[in-house]
Amino acid sequence: MRRARLLATATCALAALIVVVACTRSADPEHHDASTGSASPAARVTAWNTRRIDYIGPDACGECHADEYARWSKSLHRVMNARAETAGAVIGDFANATLPWDGGEAHFTREGSAYVMTLAKAGTRVRYRVTRTIGHRGLQEYVGVQDAGAPGGKAHGDEVRLPFGWWPAYGGWAPQVAFDPWLDAFDAYAPVREPWAERCPWCHSTYPFDQRIARSQALGVGHGLEQLVASGGGAGRERLAIDAQVTTGISCESCHLGGRAHAEGAAIQFLPHGAASAGLPAAFADQRKTAAIVNGVCAQCHSGPSPRLSDGTALRNSSEALDLAASPCTNIKCTDCHDPHRADARGDEARAVAACTHCHQQLADAALARAHAGPGHEAASCLDCHMPKIVLGIDRFVRTHRISAPTNLALYAEGAPNACNTCHLDRSTRWTLDALGLRAPARAGIDLDASLGELWLTSPRPALRVLATWAYAASPLARYVDLKRGLADPVPYVRAWTKLALHP
Ligand code: HEC
Ligand code: HEC
Ligand code: HEC
Ligand code: HEC
Ligand code: HEC
Ligand code: HEC
Ligand code: HEC
Ligand code: HEC
Repeated sequence: MRRARLLATATCALAALIVVVACTRSADPEHHDASTGSASPAARVTAWNTRRIDYIGPDACGECHADEYARWSKSLHRVMNARAETAGAVIGDFANATLPWDGGEAHFTREGSAYVMTLAKAGTRVRYRVTRTIGHRGLQEYVGVQDAGAPGGKAHGDEVRLPFGWWPAYGGWAPQVAFDPWLDAFDAYAPVREPWAERCPWCHSTYPFDQRIARSQALGVGHGLEQLVASGGGAGRERLAIDAQVTTGISCESCHLGGRAHAEGAAIQFLPHGAASAGLPAAFADQRKTAAIVNGVCAQCHSGPSPRLSDGTALRNSSEALDLAASPCTNIKCTDCHDPHRADARGDEARAVAACTHCHQQLADAALARAHAGPGHEAASCLDCHMPKIVLGIDRFVRTHRISAPTNLALYAEGAPNACNTCHLDRSTRWTLDALGLRAPARAGIDLDASLGELWLTSPRPALRVLATWAYAASPLARYVDLKRGLADPVPYVRAWTKLALHP
């Protein structure tokens, strides 16, 4: 490989005056054309793991890796995106269900084998035929195409994300504004224009990594492995080329990259071709121990946008990789706490606590850990104080991945959520800082003597109102406050999440 490149460069030097452009391209390792050089076909293929041709799909991997395949087959990753016609894919009720919303109605029906969502308001009627599902457990959204011949509008070829989702914890159908905190203006009956393929499948399906590199360099988006690759930029685009997808859900090669050469006997590695030269290890055995690489694999997708605290802590899930990267724990990896093949966080608490004490060994001693936590905290775990439940998940509040000690005075001064007061809701900032032996900040944006639970419940930030409602609902202090006021909140997602908190 190296020899072939030197040769190519030398030939270029000689021919420089004649074919400058062509030689610049082939001398650039990132733009190595598979047809240059004199290596055998197998050796040429070894050099690549990012083009469509390099991908072989999960079933081929499964022939030699039955164990990983079995775990992955039951994982949420596998079913993240599915075609509507796949058996078992659709979990929503399409048996003639109706949801009144905002002066109109949404209908969910079957027509033959098709799933149909019809949105009707004030004489307009738009029908969508469902083509795909997104999500499977906590929430399922739908992608569809507008029916040709629909009276409400012209036939529209693009597949778009539909405005109603199936939300089991909520009791069934719900409009996007109920589960999505982003949407200020939402009109469920206006025709959807944004093609689904511009966002969702980038994190919910498997496709050649070349597309990710190109998109990240052309448009400046992405936080994962693609950031470790330097290449010449190029024809990146917002819309994923769906016909080049390897699988509709997330499969082996989303994380391991194209495995054709490996299946033919070559070693496999996490990094895209060309990145290993950037001072990072090239062998799988070393890569799996390197946090920047493992977390970079997951950060391709677990790095979503979110409302954040002033120190960057996310208040919405899917941003786990960015939060972890901002944590003080050097070289901590997602795989310290999660099995990437099972990919189901429920049940990983014990593994997470074991990871803490594996690195922070002095606290593996039960007596020292008790002393560290202080009186009253026999039932509190490391996670309760260092990874509190302040993140809006799919259908419940979940732990932050921003590991920290609850001692950041700047956050206290602005009344941000903190680990201590998510339990001690009735207490004030000053009480907490006293207990921690810290001096209260001289200037603060809040009343330092007010109960933090009450401040959050009445905060101008909807995210804090929901958070406090959930924290109270799980606490014996719930009976001292009126949580039902959240049901009349002006923000739809606060109302929906209050309903979830009060009727779990
Ligand atoms: C023809 C059989 C075969 C197929 C197909 C196959 N592998 Fe492997 N794989 C192996 C063998 C044998 C090893 C252990 C030897 C080695 O390290 O190369 C291995 C090792 C691995 C390792 C660990 C590498 C290491 O260095 O420890 C990973 C990861 C892996 N395979 C992933 C995959 C993925 C993903 C696919 C599908 C894209 C796949 N394999 C397809 C045979 C196969
Ligand atoms: C930046 C990556 C990213 C993008 C883009 C993205 N998602 Fe997600 N999505 C995630 C991650 C990560 C999760 C897992 C959330 C978690 O458990 O933390 C998720 C979870 C979901 C779920 C819930 C899954 C379940 O089984 O409960 C739905 C539904 C969903 N996404 C819909 C969408 C839709 C619709 C789009 C496009 C508008 C989209 N996502 C775009 C990363 C992304
Ligand atoms: C979500 C990302 C992801 C997916 C999907 C995924 N893997 Fe992995 N795989 C990893 C990571 C990360 C490791 C390293 C795990 C570690 O070090 O704890 C790994 C390790 C492996 C290993 C080495 C196991 C060992 O213990 O030595 C094999 C083999 C493997 N994967 C095969 C597969 C196959 C086959 C599939 C699809 C059926 C698959 N993986 C899907 C991320 C993934
Ligand atoms: C191609 C995008 C993608 C990659 C790469 C990826 N994930 Fe995911 N992951 C998702 C999406 C989307 C979901 C949503 C599944 C759900 O919650 O139903 C998810 C779900 C999960 C969950 C389960 C969440 C729950 O609700 O229980 C865990 C844990 C997880 N991923 C860990 C990882 C780890 C660790 C890695 C890296 C080794 C990784 N993921 C790589 C997209 C990805
Ligand atoms: C891979 C090893 C590793 C794991 C796993 C790990 N940590 Fe750490 N952690 C570190 C290192 C290294 C530091 C930095 C040590 C230092 O600065 O003295 C650190 C720092 C910290 C700090 C200090 C914060 C500060 O502001 O000074 C806290 C708190 C912490 N870890 C808590 C935890 C908790 C809780 C867990 C489990 C959820 C955990 N860690 C898991 C390695 C780890
Ligand atoms: C009741 C809350 C509470 C619990 C439970 C708790 N911690 Fe802490 N931890 C704190 C506080 C508060 C600090 C900051 C102390 C300071 O800076 O004086 C801290 C500091 C730390 C630090 C950094 C300073 C140091 O002492 O090295 C680490 C590491 C740490 N905790 C790990 C853990 C681990 C591991 C567990 C579980 C075994 C745990 N903590 C359980 C409240 C807690
Ligand atoms: C120190 C342990 C630890 C590390 C490291 C860790 N996680 Fe987690 N993660 C957890 C725990 C514990 C939960 C369960 C939180 C809950 O149920 O409230 C969780 C939950 C999740 C969820 C589900 C969130 C949801 O909304 O249900 C996802 C997705 C996830 N982790 C992905 C990742 C990714 C990606 C990484 C690496 C960037 C990572 N985790 C690193 C401990 C960890
Ligand atoms: C998981 C919930 C939880 C978390 C997190 C938590 N506490 Fe507690 N704390 C309790 C409970 C329960 C008690 C015992 C009953 C009581 O006094 O309210 C207690 C007791 C106390 C006491 C009285 C102890 C005594 O003298 O009897 C203080 C002071 C205290 N906590 C401070 C803190 C501080 C500071 C933090 C953050 C570092 C914190 N707590 C985090 C639940 C929690």
